Amino acid sequence: MSIRRTDLYALALCGVVSVTQMALAAPEKLEVCTTCHGADGSGAGFDNVPIIAGTPAAHLEEALYAYQDGARRCVEEPVMCETAANLSETEIVDLAEHFSAMGRISAGEARDEALVVIGERLHTEHCAKCHVLPGDEEVEDAIGIPLQGQRSAYLKLAFQSYLSGDRETLVPEMAEKLELLDASDIDALIKYYSSYEL
Ligand code: HEC
Ligand code: HEC
Repeated sequence: MSIRRTDLYALALCGVVSVTQMALAAPEKLEVCTTCHGADGSGAGFDNVPIIAGTPAAHLEEALYAYQDGARRCVEEPVMCETAANLSETEIVDLAEHFSAMGRISAGEARDEALVVIGERLHTEHCAKCHVLPGDEEVEDAIGIPLQGQRSAYLKLAFQSYLSGDRETLVPEMAEKLELLDASDIDALIKYYSSYEL
Protein backbone atom coordinates (compact mmCIF):
# COMPACT_ATOMS: atom_id res chain seq x y z
CA MET A 1 0.00 0.00 0.00
CA SER A 2 1.34 3.43 -0.83
CA ILE A 3 1.31 6.31 1.63
CA ARG A 4 -0.42 9.35 0.22
CA ARG A 5 0.87 12.86 0.90
CA THR A 6 -2.22 13.80 2.83
CA ASP A 7 -1.60 10.81 5.12
CA LEU A 8 1.94 12.03 5.71
CA TYR A 9 0.66 15.45 6.72
CA ALA A 10 -1.80 13.81 9.09
CA LEU A 11 0.95 11.65 10.58
CA ALA A 12 3.19 14.70 10.98
CA LEU A 13 0.43 16.51 12.82
CA CYS A 14 0.19 13.56 15.22
CA GLY A 15 3.93 13.81 15.73
CA VAL A 16 4.61 10.38 14.22
CA VAL A 17 6.67 11.67 11.26
CA SER A 18 9.10 14.54 11.76
CA VAL A 19 8.97 17.66 9.62
CA THR A 20 12.36 16.73 8.12
CA GLN A 21 11.00 13.43 6.90
CA MET A 22 8.03 15.26 5.42
CA ALA A 23 10.26 17.62 3.48
CA LEU A 24 12.20 14.65 2.12
CA ALA A 25 9.08 12.81 1.02
CA ALA A 26 9.46 12.50 -2.75
CA PRO A 27 6.54 13.34 -5.00
CA GLU A 28 4.42 10.29 -5.66
CA LYS A 29 5.25 8.40 -8.87
CA LEU A 30 8.69 9.99 -8.90
CA GLU A 31 10.34 6.58 -8.96
CA VAL A 32 8.60 5.75 -12.23
CA CYS A 33 9.90 8.93 -13.82
CA THR A 34 13.46 8.45 -12.63
CA THR A 35 13.77 5.05 -14.33
CA CYS A 36 14.04 6.97 -17.61
CA HIS A 37 14.73 10.59 -16.66
CA GLY A 38 17.25 9.71 -13.92
CA ALA A 39 17.21 10.98 -10.34
CA ASP A 40 19.03 14.09 -11.62
CA GLY A 41 16.62 14.75 -14.52
CA SER A 42 19.40 14.24 -17.08
CA GLY A 43 17.93 11.19 -18.82
CA ALA A 44 21.51 9.99 -19.19
CA GLY A 45 21.83 6.69 -21.03
CA PHE A 46 18.54 7.08 -22.96
CA ASP A 47 18.78 8.78 -26.34
CA ASN A 48 15.20 9.93 -26.79
CA VAL A 49 14.69 11.10 -23.21
CA PRO A 50 14.87 14.88 -22.80
CA ILE A 51 16.86 16.65 -20.09
CA ILE A 52 14.13 17.98 -17.80
CA ALA A 53 16.29 19.18 -14.88
CA GLY A 54 15.87 22.93 -14.50
CA THR A 55 13.10 23.30 -17.09
CA PRO A 56 10.62 25.88 -15.77
CA ALA A 57 7.73 24.15 -14.00
CA ALA A 58 5.04 25.73 -16.19
CA HIS A 59 6.55 24.02 -19.26
CA LEU A 60 6.87 20.64 -17.57
CA GLU A 61 3.23 20.86 -16.50
CA GLU A 62 2.15 21.95 -19.97
CA ALA A 63 4.02 18.99 -21.51
CA LEU A 64 2.39 16.49 -19.15
CA TYR A 65 -1.08 17.88 -19.91
CA ALA A 66 -0.27 17.73 -23.64
CA TYR A 67 0.55 13.99 -23.29
CA GLN A 68 -2.71 13.50 -21.37
CA ASP A 69 -4.93 15.25 -23.90
CA GLY A 70 -3.21 13.83 -26.99
CA ALA A 71 -1.63 17.08 -28.26
CA ARG A 72 1.65 15.15 -27.91
CA ARG A 73 1.84 11.50 -28.92
CA CYS A 74 4.70 9.28 -27.76
CA VAL A 75 5.88 7.67 -30.98
CA GLU A 76 9.18 6.26 -29.72
CA GLU A 77 8.29 5.64 -26.10
CA PRO A 78 4.61 4.79 -25.42
CA VAL A 79 5.36 4.30 -21.69
CA MET A 80 5.85 8.07 -21.34
CA CYS A 81 2.26 8.73 -22.49
CA GLU A 82 0.90 5.79 -20.46
CA THR A 83 2.60 7.15 -17.34
CA ALA A 84 1.34 10.70 -17.93
CA ALA A 85 -2.21 9.44 -18.44
CA ASN A 86 -2.44 8.31 -14.80
CA LEU A 87 -1.16 11.49 -13.16
CA SER A 88 -3.47 13.65 -11.06
CA GLU A 89 -3.26 17.43 -11.22
CA THR A 90 -1.50 17.51 -7.83
CA GLU A 91 1.04 14.93 -8.98
CA ILE A 92 1.73 16.95 -12.13
CA VAL A 93 2.34 20.10 -10.08
CA ASP A 94 4.58 18.25 -7.56
CA LEU A 95 6.64 16.47 -10.23
CA ALA A 96 7.08 19.63 -12.29
CA GLU A 97 8.24 21.50 -9.21
CA HIS A 98 10.63 18.69 -8.29
CA PHE A 99 12.46 18.64 -11.64
CA SER A 100 12.34 22.41 -12.23
CA ALA A 101 14.08 23.06 -8.91
CA MET A 102 17.19 21.17 -10.11
CA GLY A 103 20.17 22.85 -11.78
CA ARG A 104 20.18 22.68 -15.57
CA ILE A 105 22.53 20.09 -17.13
CA SER A 106 24.11 20.32 -20.61
CA ALA A 107 24.16 17.30 -22.90
CA GLY A 108 27.69 18.44 -23.78
CA GLU A 109 27.77 16.79 -27.20
CA ALA A 110 30.55 17.27 -29.75
CA ARG A 111 30.76 20.69 -31.43
CA ASP A 112 30.97 21.23 -35.17
CA GLU A 113 32.08 24.83 -35.56
CA ALA A 114 30.67 25.39 -39.07
CA LEU A 115 27.22 24.01 -38.15
CA VAL A 116 27.15 25.80 -34.80
CA VAL A 117 27.68 29.17 -36.51
CA ILE A 118 24.72 28.53 -38.84
CA GLY A 119 22.58 27.15 -36.01
CA GLU A 120 23.26 30.10 -33.74
CA ARG A 121 22.41 32.58 -36.50
CA LEU A 122 19.10 30.83 -37.23
CA HIS A 123 18.31 30.64 -33.54
CA THR A 124 19.00 34.33 -32.94
CA GLU A 125 16.95 35.37 -35.95
CA HIS A 126 13.91 33.12 -35.54
CA CYS A 127 13.77 31.43 -32.16
CA ALA A 128 15.53 33.45 -29.45
CA LYS A 129 12.64 35.73 -28.60
CA CYS A 130 10.65 32.76 -27.24
CA HIS A 131 13.44 30.26 -26.45
CA VAL A 132 15.73 32.15 -24.07
CA LEU A 133 18.86 30.66 -22.49
CA PRO A 134 18.17 28.23 -19.62
CA GLY A 135 20.03 30.59 -17.26
CA ASP A 136 18.22 33.75 -18.44
CA GLU A 137 16.57 35.64 -15.61
CA GLU A 138 13.38 35.81 -17.70
CA VAL A 139 13.32 32.04 -18.38
CA GLU A 140 10.29 31.43 -16.13
CA ASP A 141 8.22 33.90 -18.17
CA ALA A 142 9.54 32.95 -21.62
CA ILE A 143 6.98 31.52 -24.04
CA GLY A 144 9.23 28.65 -25.20
CA ILE A 145 11.12 25.82 -23.46
CA PRO A 146 14.88 26.37 -23.09
CA LEU A 147 16.70 24.47 -25.85
CA GLN A 148 20.42 25.17 -25.34
CA GLY A 149 22.09 22.14 -23.74
CA GLN A 150 19.31 19.72 -24.75
CA ARG A 151 20.27 16.29 -26.10
CA SER A 152 20.36 15.92 -29.90
CA ALA A 153 18.40 12.66 -30.19
CA TYR A 154 15.50 14.17 -28.25
CA LEU A 155 15.56 17.38 -30.32
CA LYS A 156 15.51 15.27 -33.48
CA LEU A 157 12.48 13.42 -32.15
CA ALA A 158 10.75 16.70 -31.24
CA PHE A 159 11.28 18.20 -34.73
CA GLN A 160 10.11 14.95 -36.36
CA SER A 161 7.02 14.86 -34.15
CA TYR A 162 6.04 18.41 -35.15
CA LEU A 163 6.64 17.69 -38.84
CA SER A 164 4.70 14.39 -38.80
CA GLY A 165 1.80 15.88 -36.81
CA ASP A 166 2.43 13.69 -33.74
CA ARG A 167 2.94 16.87 -31.74
CA GLU A 168 0.87 20.02 -32.02
CA THR A 169 2.48 23.42 -31.63
CA LEU A 170 0.74 25.37 -28.92
CA VAL A 171 1.51 28.76 -30.46
CA PRO A 172 0.94 29.31 -34.22
CA GLU A 173 4.14 31.36 -34.62
CA MET A 174 6.22 28.35 -33.58
CA ALA A 175 4.64 26.36 -36.47
CA GLU A 176 5.30 29.22 -38.92
CA LYS A 177 8.96 29.29 -37.89
CA LEU A 178 9.31 25.53 -38.41
CA GLU A 179 7.99 25.91 -41.95
CA LEU A 180 10.89 28.22 -42.75
CA LEU A 181 13.47 25.54 -41.94
CA ASP A 182 14.84 22.87 -44.27
CA ALA A 183 16.54 19.65 -43.13
CA SER A 184 20.02 21.20 -43.08
CA ASP A 185 18.79 24.17 -40.99
CA ILE A 186 17.33 21.72 -38.48
CA ASP A 187 20.63 19.79 -38.34
CA ALA A 188 22.54 23.02 -37.68
CA LEU A 189 20.11 24.11 -34.95
CA ILE A 190 20.33 20.71 -33.25
CA LYS A 191 24.15 20.85 -33.36
CA TYR A 192 24.11 24.34 -31.85
CA TYR A 193 21.72 23.38 -29.02
CA SER A 194 23.22 19.98 -28.12
CA SER A 195 26.83 21.20 -27.99
CA TYR A 196 26.02 24.37 -26.06
CA GLU A 197 27.85 24.43 -22.71
CA LEU A 198 25.81 26.16 -20.01
C1 HEC B 1 9.84 4.77 -20.28
C2 HEC B 1 10.63 5.98 -20.12
C3 HEC B 1 9.94 7.18 -19.50
C4 HEC B 1 9.25 7.27 -18.31
C5 HEC B 1 8.92 6.16 -17.32
C6 HEC B 1 8.89 8.67 -18.15
N1 HEC B 1 9.35 9.40 -19.22
FE1 HEC B 1 9.07 11.40 -19.54
N2 HEC B 1 9.81 11.21 -21.42
C7 HEC B 1 10.32 10.05 -21.97
C8 HEC B 1 10.53 10.26 -23.39
C9 HEC B 1 11.10 9.23 -24.38
C10 HEC B 1 10.10 11.58 -23.68
C11 HEC B 1 9.98 12.23 -25.06
C12 HEC B 1 8.68 11.70 -25.64
C13 HEC B 1 8.08 12.44 -26.82
O1 HEC B 1 7.68 13.60 -26.67
O2 HEC B 1 7.95 11.79 -27.87
C14 HEC B 1 9.68 12.16 -22.41
C15 HEC B 1 9.23 13.47 -22.26
C16 HEC B 1 8.90 14.06 -21.06
C17 HEC B 1 8.59 15.46 -20.87
C18 HEC B 1 8.59 16.55 -21.94
C19 HEC B 1 9.84 17.40 -21.82
C20 HEC B 1 9.96 18.47 -22.87
O3 HEC B 1 11.03 19.11 -22.94
O4 HEC B 1 9.02 18.73 -23.61
C21 HEC B 1 8.30 15.61 -19.54
C22 HEC B 1 7.91 16.90 -18.83
C23 HEC B 1 8.43 14.31 -18.91
N3 HEC B 1 8.81 13.39 -19.86
C24 HEC B 1 8.22 14.05 -17.56
C25 HEC B 1 8.07 12.77 -17.03
C26 HEC B 1 7.55 12.48 -15.71
C27 HEC B 1 7.15 13.55 -14.71
C28 HEC B 1 7.51 11.13 -15.58
C29 HEC B 1 6.98 10.31 -14.41
C30 HEC B 1 5.60 10.54 -14.06
C31 HEC B 1 8.03 10.55 -16.81
N4 HEC B 1 8.35 11.58 -17.67
C32 HEC B 1 8.18 9.20 -17.07
C33 HEC B 1 10.57 8.87 -21.28
C34 HEC B 1 9.98 8.52 -20.07
C1 HEC C 1 6.35 32.52 -30.65
C2 HEC C 1 7.24 31.77 -29.79
C3 HEC C 1 8.09 30.70 -30.41
C4 HEC C 1 9.01 30.84 -31.44
C5 HEC C 1 9.32 32.08 -32.25
C6 HEC C 1 9.63 29.54 -31.58
N1 HEC C 1 9.11 28.65 -30.68
FE1 HEC C 1 9.70 26.72 -30.39
N2 HEC C 1 8.31 26.47 -28.94
C7 HEC C 1 7.46 27.46 -28.49
C8 HEC C 1 6.60 26.89 -27.47
C9 HEC C 1 5.47 27.63 -26.74
C10 HEC C 1 6.98 25.54 -27.31
C11 HEC C 1 6.38 24.49 -26.36
C12 HEC C 1 4.98 24.12 -26.70
C13 HEC C 1 4.81 23.52 -28.06
O1 HEC C 1 5.14 22.35 -28.27
O2 HEC C 1 4.32 24.26 -28.93
C14 HEC C 1 8.06 25.31 -28.25
C15 HEC C 1 8.73 24.09 -28.37
C16 HEC C 1 9.83 23.88 -29.18
C17 HEC C 1 10.61 22.66 -29.22
C18 HEC C 1 10.37 21.43 -28.36
C19 HEC C 1 11.15 21.57 -27.07
C20 HEC C 1 10.95 20.48 -26.08
O3 HEC C 1 11.63 20.50 -25.04
O4 HEC C 1 10.14 19.59 -26.28
C21 HEC C 1 11.59 22.84 -30.15
C22 HEC C 1 12.65 21.82 -30.55
C23 HEC C 1 11.44 24.18 -30.68
N3 HEC C 1 10.36 24.79 -30.06
C24 HEC C 1 12.27 24.74 -31.63
C25 HEC C 1 12.10 26.04 -32.14
C26 HEC C 1 12.98 26.59 -33.15
C27 HEC C 1 14.16 25.89 -33.75
C28 HEC C 1 12.50 27.86 -33.40
C29 HEC C 1 13.06 28.86 -34.40
C30 HEC C 1 13.24 28.40 -35.75
C31 HEC C 1 11.36 28.09 -32.55
N4 HEC C 1 11.14 26.96 -31.79
C32 HEC C 1 10.62 29.26 -32.50
C33 HEC C 1 7.42 28.77 -28.91
C34 HEC C 1 8.18 29.32 -29.94
